[in-house]
Amino acid sequence: MQTHEWILIVDYGSQYTQLIARRIREQQVFCRIVPARDFVPALLAERPKGVILSGGPSSVHHPEAPLPPKEAFESGIPTLGICYGMQAMAHLLGGEVTAATTREYGKSRVFVEQGEGLFQDIEGDFISWMSHGDSINESTLPQGFNISAKTEHAVSAAIANKERKLYGLQFHPEVSHTEQGQQILKNFLFGICECSGDWTMESFVESSIEDIRKQVGTDKVVLGLSGGVDSSVAAILMHKAIGDQLQCIFVDNGLLRAREREQVEKDYGEAFNLNLKVVDASDVFLSKLAGISDPEKKRKIIGETFVRVFEAESKKLTDVHYLGQGTLYPDVVESQSAWGGPSVTIKTHHNVGGLPKDMQLKLIEPLRDLFKDEVREVGVLLGIPHELVYRHPFPGPGLAVRILGDVTPERLRMVREADERVIEEIRKAGLYDEIWQAFAVLLPVNTVGVMGDERTYEHVIAVRAVNSVDAMTADWSKMPPEVLGIISNRIINEVRGINRVVYDISSKPPATIEWE
Ligand code: XMP
Repeated sequence: MQTHEWILIVDYGSQYTQLIARRIREQQVFCRIVPARDFVPALLAERPKGVILSGGPSSVHHPEAPLPPKEAFESGIPTLGICYGMQAMAHLLGGEVTAATTREYGKSRVFVEQGEGLFQDIEGDFISWMSHGDSINESTLPQGFNISAKTEHAVSAAIANKERKLYGLQFHPEVSHTEQGQQILKNFLFGICECSGDWTMESFVESSIEDIRKQVGTDKVVLGLSGGVDSSVAAILMHKAIGDQLQCIFVDNGLLRAREREQVEKDYGEAFNLNLKVVDASDVFLSKLAGISDPEKKRKIIGETFVRVFEAESKKLTDVHYLGQGTLYPDVVESQSAWGGPSVTIKTHHNVGGLPKDMQLKLIEPLRDLFKDEVREVGVLLGIPHELVYRHPFPGPGLAVRILGDVTPERLRMVREADERVIEEIRKAGLYDEIWQAFAVLLPVNTVGVMGDERTYEHVIAVRAVNSVDAMTADWSKMPPEVLGIISNRIINEVRGINRVVYDISSKPPATIEWE
């Protein structure tokens, strides 16, 4: 249900589509991305304030090019086509799109011809980001259109039909390399679509509490609380809406960080008065993992065991009709394809371990419209302490993928104690919030050392700390050597069984953040 004014983004397969959505949300305007084939149903379901047609890899000359229906331009709703989106619009409205033999890619200077509409308050020229093959022929623009900006090679950089509120950009305003990109989007949203900017996290919390109440009625919801940001924010939000009708289940798989279970009990169960059932399944997990050193096998065993434990616990509950999950918007968008044909395989979501489809529960996912930073903002608004909301990510398979080789209670103890010291010292140095993720890894080798006058032959801990924006790429953290020194000293002196600490200086790619 749509309670906010909104912008419809139609996805033609551009790698930047999610970025368009991010940029619009930053202007406090709600937006949704739909695959190209859902354009018209989305337009009819609830009238958006504006439409953005994304770029895409196709050419309008390709026989199977995904083209919007011509009638979509008759709705009177302001429409902005970006790159392929502009070409598709021009082509359908009778303009000529020239096929190119090579793609123009990278920075290009744009000269504003008409400082109005999209270019209100923008004068002269600016750098833009282009990534296109075809271009619009200046002499055969669709009827009623003008050129509002050109590139240095006199290619049409922007076209407009003010009367019909149809606009096109050859370059990408959503990409940060485009100097006036945010202003151009702002002009579209506020000047042309007349949005008011009513999308705030306060308004989201208010309307989603109402929606959850309506959807759930007097039923009960079960939710797997992991202690991570997404499931925690989902739990607190739902608890605000339906109180004790929400039953949270926390599975202790024995692979958690130091004091994690106690923290979930205290910080969520007690502080928020959640109905929280803690299931200690660590013996089950550890016995299934015994003797397994292959990373993929470990992940599979942990995922399956989680499903079984969670399912068994949910079956003990009566009157539960809903399964609550902390699914975020990027998961939703990634599982829908731009063209949405039947041949496309939908990615399976692995939220809280990937729960079975035959659970007979209806899904409720209150965060499915939000990006991660928006979820964090909601968490803060709901009163979740800063240090929980901004916790470093922790993988579902837990410490098992930070123990190279067999997972045993003794090896878990070593990595857990080392990890605790890494985090403590990073916090003390005031680096926790600027580092994306930091942790300890136990290596499957012994090395020779000397302690007192004794020879030792003990384990090695690798410390990993990375900077990243979205975990897709990462660089190793250049944290001060003094901090590394303190971490190393503390681990070697305080964690029994460790006589050496090394620092991982690999970036991603080619390495990954986790070692397994
Ligand atoms: P990699 O190791 O692939 O990790 O560079 C990228 C980010 O994802 C986290 N990660 C996981 N998170 N389940 C999760 O929920 C998993 O199985 C998993 N594996 C990796 C990792 O900690 C990093 O932040």
